Amino acid sequence: MTTIELLQPDDWHVHLRNDEMLAAVVGYSAQRFRYAMVMPNLMPPITSSEAAATYRAQILQHVPASKSGFNPQMAIYCSDTVDLNDLKAGIASGAIAAVKYYPAGATTNSAAGGQSMADFMTLYEVLAESGVRLLVHAESTDPTVDLFDREAVFLERQLATVCERLPELQVTVEHVSTAAGIDFVAAHDQAVATITPHHLSKERSDLLAHGMKPDLFCKPIINSAADRDALVAAATSGESSFFLGTDSAPHPTTAKYGPTAKAGIFNAAYGLEVVAEVFYQQNKLDQLEAFTSRNGAKAYGVDVADTKIRLTREAVDADIATSFTTAAGDEVVLFGTDEAALWKVEQL
Ligand code: NCD
Ligand code: ZN
Repeated sequence: MTTIELLQPDDWHVHLRNDEMLAAVVGYSAQRFRYAMVMPNLMPPITSSEAAATYRAQILQHVPASKSGFNPQMAIYCSDTVDLNDLKAGIASGAIAAVKYYPAGATTNSAAGGQSMADFMTLYEVLAESGVRLLVHAESTDPTVDLFDREAVFLERQLATVCERLPELQVTVEHVSTAAGIDFVAAHDQAVATITPHHLSKERSDLLAHGMKPDLFCKPIINSAADRDALVAAATSGESSFFLGTDSAPHPTTAKYGPTAKAGIFNAAYGLEVVAEVFYQQNKLDQLEAFTSRNGAKAYGVDVADTKIRLTREAVDADIATSFTTAAGDEVVLFGTDEAALWKVEQL
């Protein structure tokens, strides 16, 4: 039997939504994670320090009292409507922990995003001066670029230029999904990357080859087996530039199953078990704590946790829930049920 203790993990990229969906999902995140970098792609998007503070208060209202260590960090949305004085004030007060750049149209609720990263240099200068990270959804929206090449093309055409022009800017390549993305981070001291449980454990044949699986559809798209292998190598290397961001993104089955599926995978519940199984299969469990609990804290300049969890690889005899239903009647499918049956997780 394999067992390992870890400092409490953090989730540096999560979608908690709002209203009934927020109420239904936040407990899953609070159950496992300490810090959570909360994404601002609500409708309307979170673009001010006040909206971020209001949203954070709403989130905390739904966190179970026993999980008071859960600490949402708020990212605001990079858009024309961000007021730079408000941004500075929000950074100073702690209401704003990061700014997220979305290319308009790349993913769920990204209509308010940018046409070009270069349009926001003045905003990035504020971030560079205050040491706050720019979080980047790195995906080209050029319709002539093949879907599976969109991360590499965006990094080359857009983020590389911004990094060159502003070497002091700290960037996080979010949900890195390709070998090209790993190479980009390795080549730029100012860049780090989050990696998701699904990009570590699946490749595009899982999505498409055995009946098309809407539950594995997300942005950026799950890429080739070679890309997956590069992500696994980076995550299990212990290298401090790479750490866990689940990109847990719940959508009701009514939005997933049909002629078109919304992009997003809900993995807050079992994402940790999925990651543990990836590291176990690589014989790299000794590097798991760096990936889940240390590297991200270092990148965001916070202390590591003072609580721990224990993971034990043994058959779980309790029933493994495969979905949940919100108070509004929306059903959401849980990612990682196979791994959840293999790993017992205990809070110490
Ligand atoms: C996310 C969502 O649903 O909000 N979807 C996804 O596929 N990851 C948005 C995002 O992070 O791209
Ligand atoms: Zn996301």
